[in-house]
Amino acid sequence: MSSARGRFIAFEGGEGAGKSTQARLLAEALRARGIDVVVTREPGGTPGAEAIRSLLLAPPGAEGWMPQAEALLFAAARADHLAHLIRPALARGTWVVCDRFVDSSRAYQGGAGGLGDDAILALHEFGSEGMRPDAVILLEGSEEALAARLAARGNDADAIEGRPAEYHRAVAAAFRALAEGDPQGFARIDAVGTPEDVHTRIMFAIAGLLP
Ligand code: TYD
Repeated sequence: MSSARGRFIAFEGGEGAGKSTQARLLAEALRARGIDVVVTREPGGTPGAEAIRSLLLAPPGAEGWMPQAEALLFAAARADHLAHLIRPALARGTWVVCDRFVDSSRAYQGGAGGLGDDAILALHEFGSEGMRPDAVILLEGSEEALAARLAARGNDADAIEGRPAEYHRAVAAAFRALAEGDPQGFARIDAVGTPEDVHTRIMFAIAGLLP
């Protein structure tokens, strides 16, 4: 086992961007290089955070969560996930590949939800000491391409996925603005193409992190 700290790579993007597939392909490629990897997701990843995930994606009661409560629940899930899974893994030298992280809260709750970036960053500072991934892979594609992929997947939309197209357009715009504001921190990847094509782009983008 390596004594060096592991690397933390987050996948971000809208619905249907192929994050889960790409997280799995990246993990396989890293393992083939002898790297110990854990793949996880947000909201979720630990028993506590998975319980919060259920509350978020299928809100009890007809009214759903008000925006501030929703942002707090995502932040609470993230704090638990970091404390009980991500930080311990990194400390023992395991790499963490995470399907969504704080930039999802910044794009969905902060941007599309209207709470603003400062509020989300303040929650993240409080819950998770402002932890940043070593790299964020932002999967981007046209609304039409991603919608076609979602339709092909054919599962029922959860409470957030089921929001109107304009909400999801605002999410995409917010992700774009975050990436433009931090070109070092984000790798913007064209998510349109075969999984293998997209994977090749990702491996190229993270080459600098590889041992
Ligand atoms: P996810 O399971 O990644 O859904 P999908 O596979 O459809 O992309 O995430 C569940 C939903 O939660 C998704 O609609 C995005 C939303 N979300 C937020 O709104 N804020 C967050 O901080 C996170 C992590 C997810």
